[in-house]
Parts: sequence; structure tokens; C-alpha cells
Amino acid sequence: MGLARVAIVTLGAIFVLFGTGGIAIGPYRWMTRDNFDAVMEKMDTVNEFNCKEMSSESLRLPANSVGQRPKFNVLPQIVIFPNRTNLIHMHNMALNRAYFYSYILQRLNESQVTDFPMLPGMLYYYMGASADVSSGVGLMNGSGVLFDTHTQYANWYPTILLFNNTLPLFGPKAFLVDDFQDPVNWLREPTNNTIRVDDLGSGPGHNYTASWHPLNSMVVRDVPNQIDFIPDLRTDYRAKHQYDYLIYNATRVGEMERMPNIKRQFFGPPSPGISEPYQPVYFTRPYFDCGRSNKWIVSAVAPVIDFMVRYSIETKLRRPQYVAITVTDLDFLRIDFDPCDRSVDSPDRTYFSGVARCRSTTLCEPLPGHGYQRGGYVCHCRPGYRYPYWQNGPFLGRDIEQASEAEADQFECIPVEWKLQRLTERGITPNSKRRRRRKRSLDETKELVHLMHLYNASAMAELRSKVAEHDRRDRELKRAQKAGSYGLGSLVKGLLSRAARSISTPADMGGQNVHYLGRLATFDADRFKAATQLISFTASVTPENCAAKTPQQLELPGEAGYGADTSFQVQARSALRLAHFLSAFSQNVNPDEVYGPFYSDKHLNRDQLFGEAFANVMSDGWIRSAGIYYDREAFWDPLLKRRIEYFGPTAFKLASDDTGDQKQRQLSFVAEDAAGWPLERAYFERDWFRILKQRWASNTYGLETFVNKPYVRTDLNGTGSKPFQRYPLYYRAPRFADMYWSKPYFDCNRNRDPNSRHVNDWVITVAAPFFGYSEQRSLQFLGVTAVTVRLDKLDINQCPGNFYEANYFKNSAPCHFESSYCVPVIQNKFQLENYKCECRQGFEYPYNDISIWFFAGGTVSSQYERAQRNETNYYRMLKCREGAGSTLLPSRGSILVAMLVGVLVANLSRD
Ligand SMILES: *[C@@H]1O[C@H](CO)[C@@H](O)[C@H](O)[C@H]1NC(C)=O
Ligand SMILES: *[C@@H]1O[C@H](CO)[C@@H](O)[C@H](O)[C@H]1NC(C)=O
Ligand SMILES: *[C@@H]1O[C@H](CO)[C@@H](O)[C@H](O)[C@H]1NC(C)=O
Ligand SMILES: *[C@@H]1O[C@H](CO)[C@@H](O)[C@H](O)[C@H]1NC(C)=O
Ligand SMILES: *[C@@H]1O[C@H](CO)[C@@H](O)[C@H](O)[C@H]1NC(C)=O
Ligand SMILES: *[C@@H]1O[C@H](CO)[C@@H](O)[C@H](O)[C@H]1NC(C)=O
Ligand SMILES: *[C@@H]1O[C@H](CO)[C@@H](O)[C@H](O)[C@H]1NC(C)=O
Ligand SMILES: *[C@@H]1O[C@H](CO)[C@@H](O)[C@H](O)[C@H]1NC(C)=O
Repeated sequence: MGLARVAIVTLGAIFVLFGTGGIAIGPYRWMTRDNFDAVMEKMDTVNEFNCKEMSSESLRLPANSVGQRPKFNVLPQIVIFPNRTNLIHMHNMALNRAYFYSYILQRLNESQVTDFPMLPGMLYYYMGASADVSSGVGLMNGSGVLFDTHTQYANWYPTILLFNNTLPLFGPKAFLVDDFQDPVNWLREPTNNTIRVDDLGSGPGHNYTASWHPLNSMVVRDVPNQIDFIPDLRTDYRAKHQYDYLIYNATRVGEMERMPNIKRQFFGPPSPGISEPYQPVYFTRPYFDCGRSNKWIVSAVAPVIDFMVRYSIETKLRRPQYVAITVTDLDFLRIDFDPCDRSVDSPDRTYFSGVARCRSTTLCEPLPGHGYQRGGYVCHCRPGYRYPYWQNGPFLGRDIEQASEAEADQFECIPVEWKLQRLTERGITPNSKRRRRRKRSLDETKELVHLMHLYNASAMAELRSKVAEHDRRDRELKRAQKAGSYGLGSLVKGLLSRAARSISTPADMGGQNVHYLGRLATFDADRFKAATQLISFTASVTPENCAAKTPQQLELPGEAGYGADTSFQVQARSALRLAHFLSAFSQNVNPDEVYGPFYSDKHLNRDQLFGEAFANVMSDGWIRSAGIYYDREAFWDPLLKRRIEYFGPTAFKLASDDTGDQKQRQLSFVAEDAAGWPLERAYFERDWFRILKQRWASNTYGLETFVNKPYVRTDLNGTGSKPFQRYPLYYRAPRFADMYWSKPYFDCNRNRDPNSRHVNDWVITVAAPFFGYSEQRSLQFLGVTAVTVRLDKLDINQCPGNFYEANYFKNSAPCHFESSYCVPVIQNKFQLENYKCECRQGFEYPYNDISIWFFAGGTVSSQYERAQRNETNYYRMLKCREGAGSTLLPSRGSILVAMLVGVLVANLSRD
């Protein structure tokens, strides 16, 4: 009877929890409902079947649920952390497309006969959008461009659309789809390689610029969020900027034109200064992409500008006008949010601020790579506190989020007693009297080191059993304490506040474990010397003296570029995107094919390719130059109607000496045909071209195959939508891992030739191959796309790393590794000092600093250098101190505990 009742109550509780479906709360009662749960509930109520009936409010999340949205005008000033990589990529890609379409629409706006047919055709738009998605798997879920009413002068309906007429609406939009149910997918696993492209301007109810359209309030017009590009109602001239560009042709291979062949301007998205109000890119609120990808996504939106009305005789009506928006999407679940508490007036405060569950003695820090998940944070001890002995590194949010109420109280730090005064600038002299004492303590630490070797990952079990042992003693102590108070203060409290927890470290999560004790990595003094020499050498090379150096001197060892693939991922992806686009286009477009009333597209032409190079340089502040380099006889020029020997459209940010005015410089760009580069630095002889060609020219095995499913309009007005006649389309293209990273080198203008464009700085070039079909219909290497970035923004990692990591700077951080471990710090700077030394398990930070709990790399390195030079220094004070009384070392810890227990027992027996 009683039992049955209990069962009913339990069932009822389960029903309340799961039956209603909409309630999302943590597994334990102490976890109160917060904004994360509110959003979870909202997201759970919508799915692909009911979303069409839902109100638009229930299909979107609060505007401030995505924090730290990249802003164009502050991007150059801020440090870019890995947790914003995907948003930056989205931002830059939306901008990239906006620049490209603005450029090409205005570049080819003059003549009905020569220009108009050269404008991008249908598949250009389709394949462009598809390449955005296929080159950014995990960073981008969708991409497209949505034209305003009657602004697209489509050139692919030559028979039925008169040349100065327009399509009512045109909106090619690509998005990633699940393909596990495709008949060709035998494995029934999502491949992440299938992309559907829809024309949003077709089908029933397709007017996305009308306010009743579900998409309209999300991406086209959200005035509170400043998304308000079309229809273009802005009269403010500052919202559109004019860009100057020059293009130099090659006269022949190895020789450049002395004067620019093209000198023009175009209107593009605004490029605001730091205090100007307009941004070129705005982010939408997270919304449910109903009927398309059926996911919660966030979009970045940027405007495309054309000089309208085109081909009109009434020239005074013409003005630059926003004619379209480019849209790039990202899965909301992949965006890292900051769960830490931020003050009300902090710009970082978002809807999710404060959902982290750090305790009062700890400080919260977000972790990258968790996306929309609980537990994406760590809790550090506040300055003046240390970890309890069983805790290896900071408390992981992941652990806290699964802790029961009793356990949760244990994620607290212990106050550090007997703090030392802050270090003074004078430090201590090497010959002070303390020397001998310190020496002894060094011997002790050696023993310590030996003991610590035991505690590597494989010895975790041993560690756990030791923890259990201490916990047993804990219980004894607790029992003892219940009997009376002994005034042992924090020491006992520290020992008491322990819980039997399994110890997890970041290594358990697949990450690199910097905290664990076993890898007592070392400091290599020779490496330190080599590293400082390398850095001072790079600083000594300037554009003025670089001509005097040999080519070998102007190249750093390849290992010095370690980490470029993460630091420059976004930049490299823009080259990869271009390689995907050129592959997709070249492999699928046949200009002779006609599909009913329309062509799919024409050959790629020079202006389009120059435009793509410009777009890569313009959309990303870190890219100094970008280009497309065709292999010999691989480019078919539609103007000359023949293959040309070499073609390498390359765009540069204009070097500082060309224009005095800073603002004007930012708006000026120059491009040239790299076929004209002097033969000693011909692009087809450069490592990034040669090596990729060697790898791919004879063997294309290993390329990824992408499936593109295009849907096109049934008629001119877009009353319906149907699969394209050739459906699906396939293309094969390289992956991110197939890109080639050059060694860091100094791009030196040796002859100081004012007509020769160089970056004149330390740079890294990253390149990707692209492919088309040969006449025999076999896959053929066509060339490479490349971007060049300044080395300046590369983060040096001086911390110990695995033996197989080719890092020039590995082991060059002079941390005191017996008591601390090294953590790299992201600063976007090619400098030493991008690290900090944090205390190891069982050690505490001994100084009375108000704001830090670690030794900053700058201090450690400079003090180490002073010590090497026999100058006054306090290098030897930059180490952590053994945590008082609760280390894991049997030699001291257990003696101490035994002593304590002894004292307690003595006290007890006295009572
Ligand atoms: C597809 O993407 C998901 C998420 O990034 C990844 O876990 C999965 O392994 C990918 N699948 C393939 C076949 O690459
Ligand atoms: C779409 O809707 C807008 C606003 O209602 C209207 O101005 C425009 O003419 C419409 N476009 C088409 C092609 O119907
Ligand atoms: C150089 O550029 C001009 C202007 O676009 C073009 O007309 C000409 O054909 C180009 N010359 C060569 C050799 O490509
Ligand atoms: C083409 O675009 C340029 C640059 O925006 C502009 O100056 C020019 O007037 C336009 N030409 C026509 C015919 O619209
Ligand atoms: C289209 O071109 C014709 C002839 O050039 C011209 O009379 C007409 O006004 C143009 N239409 C538009 C909408 O500009
Ligand atoms: C990203 O990481 C940085 C550095 O850890 C942090 O300051 C920032 O708040 C994080 N941003 C988000 C949204 O998590
Ligand atoms: C497209 O719509 C316009 C205006 O509604 C109409 O005049 C025209 O005949 C339509 N064209 C086609 C091919 O249906
Ligand atoms: C520093 O002092 C040590 C010991 O006196 C000596 O061996 C070393 O050469 C000195 N180094 C420098 C740079 O003077």
C-alpha cells in the first residue's frame, strides 16, 4: 500500500518533469531555473512540423542572447579569441560577398554589348553561395544574397528578359542539409557535404521584402537591431563609401605595365572609422530557419550596392543604392556564449550572463568550443585563494553542472594564509643571505618533482586512492570536530571541505592537459636564447634594409609559423572558399548549354576574378594580399577567346606611401596580374604554387566530393520552384587540411621599385588548390588561390608541447615547472611573453596581489634575462609555494595530517 503510493508519487513527479515537455531545469534542486533554461524551453517547443503555425515572436530569441558580436570598426583594435572565430568568419564572409557583388555590378555597368554578358550569371550566384558553406563546415551553415524588388538585371534569360529589365526578386540561398536519407548515401551517415540552394525569390508567397513574410522580420528588416538595408531608405551619404582601385595588366609573362590599365571607383558597404555610427555588417537575433535548414541560426547581414537605375537615359536619376543583402548563417548551438556574471553596465553583459555556477571564492572564465551548452566555463580561485589539494587546475564548469547539492559546496577555494608582500621593482640580489635556505628548498622541490612524476595520467588511479585515503581521515576529523572546537582555523576547514569526487582534468575531455602533474615539462635555456634571438632578428629587418639581406636570411624556419592554422583560420578559409568556388564553377559550368529559356553561366572572366581577389583583401583587415594563380594554359579568357599562358589576379591593400590621407588609404586598393611579376619571383616558381602543383597535378585522390542540389524558378516571375535540369551537381574540392602554409618570410621590395607591389613585412602565405575538368573529362589541377597575412598577428606558444609538435618556441617559457605550469595567452601578437605560469596542484600563489593569481610571462621572461645577466632580479621568487598543510605528498602531507590527528586525539583525551 505504502509502496504503491510512493510509486504513484514518483511517477507523478516524473510526469511533471518529462510529460509536459517544456520544462528544462537542472538535474538537482539547487540548480535554480535561469535564462538558459528559458531559452531551452523556447527552442524545444519549435520543430520543423509546427514552425509554420508559430508566431514570429516564438521563432526567435532575445537580441542579446549572442554576445560580443564582431563590429567592423573595432575589429582591428581587439584581441580575437577562439570563441569568436566562427562569428568573425561569418562577419567577414558576409562582407566579402557584399564587396564582391558591389564591385562587379558597378565594374560592368557601362555597355550593353561588352559588359552586360560578363556579369555573374545564375550559377555564379548558386555556386558562390554553395562554396561559402562547403568551405566552412562547422563555421557556416548557410549563405546567400537576397535582391530587392526589381534590382537584378539577370543576364541568363537572354531570350525572354530584355537587357534593361529586371527579375522581380532573386534570392539564391545555400544551406547545409542532412543527407543520410539520400539514395546514394549508403552509409546512412550525415556527410556534412550536401548543400541545397534555393531561390528564395521563387515559389508561393516568396516576397521576402514584404512585412508579412516570415523571413522579413528576421533578416531583411529588423530596425531595432539596425538591420535595415533594403528597401534602401537611407539618405545618409556616410552609409555608402566609395573605394578607389587600380588594376595593372601584365604586358607579357615577367613584365608589368608601368601605368595602371584601370583606374576606377565603386560604391561599397560602409567602412566606418571607430566613432562612426554605421556598421557594414549586423547580426540578427537567433531565429528558427523554418522550412529551410530547420535549425536555430544567427545570420550576419551586409548590403550590396549598385549604381541605379542602370541603363537609364535619365542620368540624373542614377545614384548608389542598396540593391541586395548578403546573408551568412551559423547554427546557434555552435556559438559560444559567456556564462559568467558581468556587471550591468559591462558591454559583455548578455541574456546568459550569470548562468555559470561558480562559487563565491572563485572567478569565472569562459571556455571556448562549447557552443550552446552548460558547463562551458572554469572557476579559478580568486587572488588570495588556492585550490584544495585534490583539485588539479581550475574547477571545470562541466563538473559543477553535474554536482549534487552536497558536492556543489566543495567547489570552493581555500584562503592563502601568510601572504607575502607584493614584489618590489628592486627585487632581491643574487648574493643575499637567503641563498642557502633557498638552495635547501630547491633540494626539497627536487624530491617533490620525483614524487610528482608518479601522478601522471596513468597513475590517476593511485591519486584517487590517495584521495579516498584522505577522505577517510576527513571523516575522522569531522567526527572529532563535532566533539568540540579546536581553533585550528582554516587548516582544518580546508581539510574538512573535501568531497569524494572523481578527479577530472581537461585531458578527459580530449583537450590538451596543461595541469596534469606527470608531464613535468621543462624549460630549455638554449631554446629561450634562440627564441629571443629570432624575435630580435625579425624586428631588425625593415623595408629599408631588407634588400641587403640574402634570401635565406629573409626566411624564418617553418616551425616559427607554428599555430598559424589556428591563428589565421579565418583568413585561410577565405582562400579556401575561393578554391571551392572556382572548383565548383569550373567543374559544372558549360557555357554552351542552354536550359530552356536560360543559360546556366558563361566562362569566368578577368573582371570577376579580380573582383574575387579584391573582395578577399577588402573584407579582412588581416589579409595583406590575396590572389588567384592559374597554372600554365589553364585560364580560358572569354575576351581573347583563347587560353592564356599565365594569369594571376592579385589584390593588395595599398601601401602607405601612395596616399597621405589615412582614411583614403583604407579605401584604396590595387591589383595586378601576377603573370607580370619578374621571373626571379614568378608565381609559378614560388613554393606555395610549386608544392601544391606537385602534390595535385598528377593525383587528385583525397579531394572531398560535395553535392549541390540547386532549385530554380519555373518562370521569370518565380511563381514556382523546381529542381534544376542538372540535379544534383557535384564538385570536388580540397579540405582545410589540404592547404599549404608557407614558412614565414619577409616580402621584400628589393629594388625599391615604386611600380612593384610588396607587403614589405614578415608574412605567411597560405594557399589552396582548385580543379576543373580537362578536355578528356578527368579532374585537372587548374591553379591555386592564396592569401598573405602579416606574421605580426600570430600567437607564439612558448609552453611545453608534445614531441611531435613542430614549434620553434616550444619549451622556451622559463616558468618554474616544479611548482607551476605554463598556459599560453592569446594576444594576437608575434612576441615572446604570450604565456603565464599558474600554480600546480598542491601549490599556492604566495603573493598579496589584488588582481592576479599567476606569474605573467612578461615578468618571468624579463626577470629570467636579468638573472642571466647577473643583474638584480627576483626570478627565483617567481614560483609557487607548497599549499600549507594539504599537499598530496605522503612525506609531508600525511605527516601533517597525522600530527593534526595527534593533536586532536590529544585534545580529545584531555576532555
Ligand atoms: C559532420 O559534422 C559533425 C559536426 O561537426 C561531426 O561531428 C561529424 O563527424 C561530421 N561528419 C563527417 C562524416 O565528417
Ligand atoms: C514585395 O513587397 C514589397 C512590400 O510590400 C513591395 O513593395 C514589392 O513590390 C513586392 N515585390 C514583388 C515582386 O511583388
Ligand atoms: C589590360 O586591361 C584593359 C582594361 O581592362 C583591357 O582592355 C586589356 O585587354 C588588358 N590587356 C591585356 C593584355 O590583357
Ligand atoms: C557605373 O558605376 C560607376 C561607379 O559606381 C559610376 O560612376 C558610373 O556612373 C556607373 N555607370 C553607369 C552607366 O551607371
Ligand atoms: C530600356 O531600354 C530602352 C531602350 O534603350 C529605353 O527606351 C527604356 O527606357 C529602358 N527601360 C528602362 C526601364 O530603363
Ligand atoms: C571569449 O574568450 C575570452 C578570453 O577567455 C573572454 O574574455 C570572452 O569573454 C569570451 N567570450 C565569450 C562570448 O565567451
Ligand atoms: C510577370 O509579372 C508581371 C507583372 O505581374 C506580368 O506583367 C508578366 O506578364 C509576368 N510574366 C510572366 C512570364 O509570367
Ligand atoms: C654570472 O655569474 C656567474 C657566476 O659568477 C658567471 O659564471 C657568469 O659568467 C656570469 N654571467 C654573466 C653574463 O656575467
